[in-house]
Amino acid sequence: MTDTLTIRRPDDYHLHLRDGAILAAVTKGSLDFGRAIIMPNLVPPVVDAAMVRAYRARIMDAVSLTPGASFEPLMTLYLTDDTTPATIDAAAEVCTAAKLYPAHATTNSASGVNDIDALTPVLERMAERGMVLCIHGEVTDHSVDIFDREAVFLERVLAPIRSRVPGLKIVLEHVSTRAAVAFVKEAPNMAATITAHHLVIDRNDLLAGGIRPHNYCLPIVKRREDREALVAAATGDDDRFFFGSDSAPHTDMKKLGCCGAAGCFTAPVAMGILAHLFENKGRLGTLEAFASTRGAAFYGLAPHDDTITLVKGDPVALEPIATPDGPITLFNPGFPITWRVENSPALDGR
Ligand code: DOR
Ligand code: ZN
Repeated sequence: MTDTLTIRRPDDYHLHLRDGAILAAVTKGSLDFGRAIIMPNLVPPVVDAAMVRAYRARIMDAVSLTPGASFEPLMTLYLTDDTTPATIDAAAEVCTAAKLYPAHATTNSASGVNDIDALTPVLERMAERGMVLCIHGEVTDHSVDIFDREAVFLERVLAPIRSRVPGLKIVLEHVSTRAAVAFVKEAPNMAATITAHHLVIDRNDLLAGGIRPHNYCLPIVKRREDREALVAAATGDDDRFFFGSDSAPHTDMKKLGCCGAAGCFTAPVAMGILAHLFENKGRLGTLEAFASTRGAAFYGLAPHDDTITLVKGDPVALEPIATPDGPITLFNPGFPITWRVENSPALDGR
């Protein structure tokens, strides 16, 4: 029986580290990863090069609180209706990618883009510069059922962007449907991130037998068949599907209110969850590709030379992490997490 696995250091190609009082505690939870694409949906959002630089410095201060930690934040710019090609030129020095939130699609997306057609000159400038576009792929048209918003986005919004700016490198973030997997497989210059939570829960884990707010995220988890398509893509051989946790911490106060926030806090246990899943599928040998090398290749980054070792043992305790703003509950995948990263700063004290 395999009980240790050494792989190149993984990266997280979609991460929310937040800001302010919870930034330090949240950042510590991601230090198993060598790099991460950092989401810019702060309040206020990170919309220009100066804000990106300042946010990056705050993240590096948080990283430095853990002795010996090495972690590279790959910064992103939040696109708005006011973003111009000149904003892209200035941000290109400090950003790996820019993020498109359709306005009102998800948490802190009120300043997102209302008129995506009008963004074409910005997207063209990104294509010229080789800057990746990360997309939250859901329509915000509330006449569309929440379970259909990703599938409708593919045809109504993503296909037109693709044909208007064919040279643009796009990552469709946190895919949640079989339809999105099929779309990405057919499209050139495209990739998709897949989260740990979308790989292990479906809507029954959210809603059947009682509502579980900690399993509520956007895009909302879908049917079992959708989850199976995501698992097939993650554990399969297509290089365009790679790991992005979308680890999105909210304090319990925000998750458990009468209008609970969307987001699963997965980063500290993500590698353990993935190892469990890949092992069950008989695909542990593909975990390194999914978590450590495919994303780097798409983004044009060298894979890490250093490694992590996952070891199997007693289940990890899922106690909430303490922050000055109150506790944040860790995502519980519904099975004991027996794999952990050896010497993980993310799991210190657990
Ligand atoms: O579940 C989510 N939480 N999905 C998102 O798109 C945003 C994120 C957040 O920032 O909380
Ligand atoms: Zn996200």
